[in-house]
Amino acid sequence: MRGKSVLELGCGAARWSIALSRLGARCVGLDQSGGQLRHALRERARGGRAVSLVRANAEQTPFPNASFDLVFCDWGAMTFCDPYRTVPEVARLLRPGGRFVFATSTPIFVITDDRRHDRPTRKLRRSYFDLYRIEDSREVEFQLPYGVWIDLFRNNGFVIDRLIEPRPGPRTRSKYLTAAESRWSRQWPREAIWQLRKLPSGRSAG
Ligand SMILES: C[S@@+](CC[C@H](N)C(=O)[O-])C[C@H]1O[C@@H](n2cnc3c(N)ncnc32)[C@H](O)[C@@H]1O
Repeated sequence: MRGKSVLELGCGAARWSIALSRLGARCVGLDQSGGQLRHALRERARGGRAVSLVRANAEQTPFPNASFDLVFCDWGAMTFCDPYRTVPEVARLLRPGGRFVFATSTPIFVITDDRRHDRPTRKLRRSYFDLYRIEDSREVEFQLPYGVWIDLFRNNGFVIDRLIEPRPGPRTRSKYLTAAESRWSRQWPREAIWQLRKLPSGRSAG
């Protein structure tokens, strides 16, 4: 991390950016919510050294081309923004060889999710092939079929280094999920962590 320029998309209270700044990165935490950035200001005052905070929409950021070595996001803008806007935007922002890492939900979680109660079930509740913009009375989120994600990454000059689907162990206790949700997550992937790398320009993802 030392000396790297890092952008967090949808940073909320910017806890990740603050942690990376302690490892020597120069971090920018971006969020469109003034309320979230106020939390981030308070967190930064407690010890985030080189974290800048920027209020902007992750689909259209104010930074010049090739500004960052790493763009990342933990259930932030990559969950709530249109990937057809964010993926090209991140490709623009990264230097050749730069990394794009984000954690979000999985297609299987979204197609089985009972949105009225916000919990995954054992029923297929929506079309896999039609995954894109998912809207209910509470929020809008985005998800794509795996093959469509892969085409989108490749078309924007990324190679996939890894796709991690964390599986909780039998004794894992979550501070966030209910016991039923944890049981579900032991059988099916709830979270996907995509690790991508931007190819030097002119090289194809072939
Ligand atoms: C679930 S919170 C996650 C916050 C943070 N990543 C964390 O791990 O604590 C989602 C964040 O994404 C931000 N967000 C949603 N849409 C955004 C957009 N279009 N541009 C920038 N930030 C956005 C929200 O304001 C919110 O702070």
